[in-house]
Amino acid sequence: MRIVFGFSPACRGRHSFRQTLRAAWHRSQPTPTLSSVAVTTDLHAALREHFGHAAFRPGQEEVVAAALAGRDVLVVMPTGAGKSLCYQLPALMREDEVTVVVSPLVSLMTDQVAGLERGAAGRAVLINSQREAGENREALARVRGGDVRLLYVAPERFAAPGFVESLEGVRVGMFVVDEAHCVSQWGHDFRPDYFELPRAARALGARQIFAATATATPRVAGDVIVRLGLRDAVRVTTGFDRPNLSYMVIRADTDVDRRRRITAVLADPAARPAIVYAGTRARTGELADALARSLGVGVAAYHAGLDRERRERAQRAFMADEVEIVVATNAFGMGIDKPDVRTVCHAAVPESLEAYYQEAGRGGRDGGPARCLLFAAARDKGLHVHFINQSAAGEARSARWAQYRGIWAFVEGDGCRRLAIQRHFGDRSTPHVAHGIPCCDVCDPAALPAAPAGRSERAPAPAGARAGAVRARAHSTSGPAPGPELDRAIVELVLSARPSVGRTRAVEILRGGRSKVVVANSYDSLELYGAFAHLSSAETLDHVDRLIERGVLRSTGGRFPKLALAPGARDVQGRLAA
Ligand SMILES: Nc1ncnc2c1ncn2[C@@H]1O[C@H](COP(=O)(O)OP(=O)(O)OP(=O)(O)O)[C@@H](O)[C@H]1O
Ligand SMILES: [Mg+2]
Ligand SMILES: [Zn+2]
Repeated sequence: MRIVFGFSPACRGRHSFRQTLRAAWHRSQPTPTLSSVAVTTDLHAALREHFGHAAFRPGQEEVVAAALAGRDVLVVMPTGAGKSLCYQLPALMREDEVTVVVSPLVSLMTDQVAGLERGAAGRAVLINSQREAGENREALARVRGGDVRLLYVAPERFAAPGFVESLEGVRVGMFVVDEAHCVSQWGHDFRPDYFELPRAARALGARQIFAATATATPRVAGDVIVRLGLRDAVRVTTGFDRPNLSYMVIRADTDVDRRRRITAVLADPAARPAIVYAGTRARTGELADALARSLGVGVAAYHAGLDRERRERAQRAFMADEVEIVVATNAFGMGIDKPDVRTVCHAAVPESLEAYYQEAGRGGRDGGPARCLLFAAARDKGLHVHFINQSAAGEARSARWAQYRGIWAFVEGDGCRRLAIQRHFGDRSTPHVAHGIPCCDVCDPAALPAAPAGRSERAPAPAGARAGAVRARAHSTSGPAPGPELDRAIVELVLSARPSVGRTRAVEILRGGRSKVVVANSYDSLELYGAFAHLSSAETLDHVDRLIERGVLRSTGGRFPKLALAPGARDVQGRLAA
């Protein structure tokens, strides 16, 4: 474990926010020194009193002391390390003021407030736009009443007219920005609302800013300091290693194969509770149904397309052990703290290694072993390329290419996965080997889950052959080559797409397009979806047309012509080879 203290440059500009803002800007007030607070306050007693924990975890005590000393703080600790306590404890200890906590997901705030309710009943409230106006009014009244120590607020709330004014007269001490990487567009989950947070902190008269994240590369950490305007911040970094997580990357190129393998893994009761990240909304529902059918256990689905009640119900059921498996998109999970998650499966490669680390980090938060299984397919790459090309050109797109290179270097690399994660985040330490817990598929190949019986196993490509392949290739040329492989894919698509598709739709699907028709018909769940995202439309269409010319395919004609197999074209493989 490595604890690094550092100081950020004073770099905050001052702007006026609203006419009605209070004049008091007590961040400029002198604050007690770090050592005086650490010496005069018995932090251990407070830890026991408020949380019932016997000891601080690495880094926590230093952070709590710095927060109590009124310092700006940047905390970078691994997932599950206990960053929340680092601001919750000082907040509960400060009897005369309120700590405002901002975090990106309502589900995360709900989870935290519920957690605090168990040990510090009535001391934390939540305000967000998804709640009834009356509930928010009542929460505000309790804050003004003086009992509340922590006020959780959704970031967009600060833009709501009158919100800042409604806290007039409330003494705000600390302004906490959890998941602080969201303020950086080099982070994996950039949220423009976060840009407004320094102004909101000032408007509330907060004395200090406290930023926490698990997923900051050195570049993102620097960005957080500048964007949030941290002044002379105490930085505490305890590395990125999660010794009780075993990271496994498994090659599974078809939906059927992934589903079978995930089902086989989760059939073992010891592998549950489990979170399965399915990639898309369409796949979330499908996979949840398939798992429920074949395993005969309760499975909840969670994605942003479901209404609020259904999402809340799914989260509650999973947290309360009423269902053992949740299948979700990345809308689920950030900061969620269910202690005993034993498996985190990814049915598709996520967009960045930061997102992967964050999502996999839901596993093993009780310190017990957990497996993080990433099922990777070549077509995921095509999909990534497609979405990057759809994004606005400029810095944001460069950031996404950097993320693309990071995640694929991890997936296709031939070295220890845990080491790769640590190096990605600039952590030079050596992964800690925990007794009896496999490190990763590279260090402990025998720990890979066995493939389900009755189907030929596709072993991962030899690591040496995969190593660096992505890094070496230009983006535009990555993915399967045009030629016979594309021809076969076109024919397969024509045979499998329902409703059947015409020439341009076929091209769109193969290139991973996202039109309404594609989404409405779930063409994005087809195996070949996005597999040729690296080719141009013209090039792909040219192949379709040549298959028509060669008599392999025919077009049905009419106003909306569809593609079909040409009569007599039964020996498709033979014709394609010709
Ligand atoms: N000193 C401690 N002793 C025992 N348990 C602790 C201690 N500090 C925190 N924990 C527990 O560790 C778990 C994880 O804490 P927390 O949710 O704050 O992690 P985190 O660092 O915010 O992770 P993430 O980056 O994933 O959000 C919680 O269940 C919390 O109760
Ligand atoms: Mg957290
Ligand atoms: Zn390893």
